[in-house]
Amino acid sequence: ASSTEIDISAIKPGQAIKGVFRKQPVFIRNLTPKEISEANAVSVSSLRDPQTLAERTKEGKENWLITMGVCTHLGCVPLGAGEGETKGEFGGYFCPCHGSTYDTAARIRKGPAPKNLEVPKYEFSSDTVVKIG
Ligand code: FES
Repeated sequence: ASSTEIDISAIKPGQAIKGVFRKQPVFIRNLTPKEISEANAVSVSSLRDPQTLAERTKEGKENWLITMGVCTHLGCVPLGAGEGETKGEFGGYFCPCHGSTYDTAARIRKGPAPKNLEVPKYEFSSDTVVKIG
């Protein structure tokens, strides 16, 4: 099938898991209120790839950040989904290949990557299941 369903019921605030979508990693992160505040406190016009957290999440579910786990530089898998506290200095994801650093909305903040981590097409099948694709 071209879409994939992922059970998100066990992902606590502050945690992220890695799933697979079209043979590529996908990150599902349950943002804490603090992480949401940090994302919303950033001046969007200062960003390399300007997007708000609201533009990258679904209305009413802005704690669920769902992105591809593929660095937009050369395609490595960033750390920060399931590697404990290895999130980089902006609290989101850190790509070990060349140091691209993403914030709590998975927006590029430092390093060579040109774009934010891609948000795939998805919808919530229920409160505990997300269907990607
Ligand atoms: Fe991620 Fe180069 S592939 S920084």
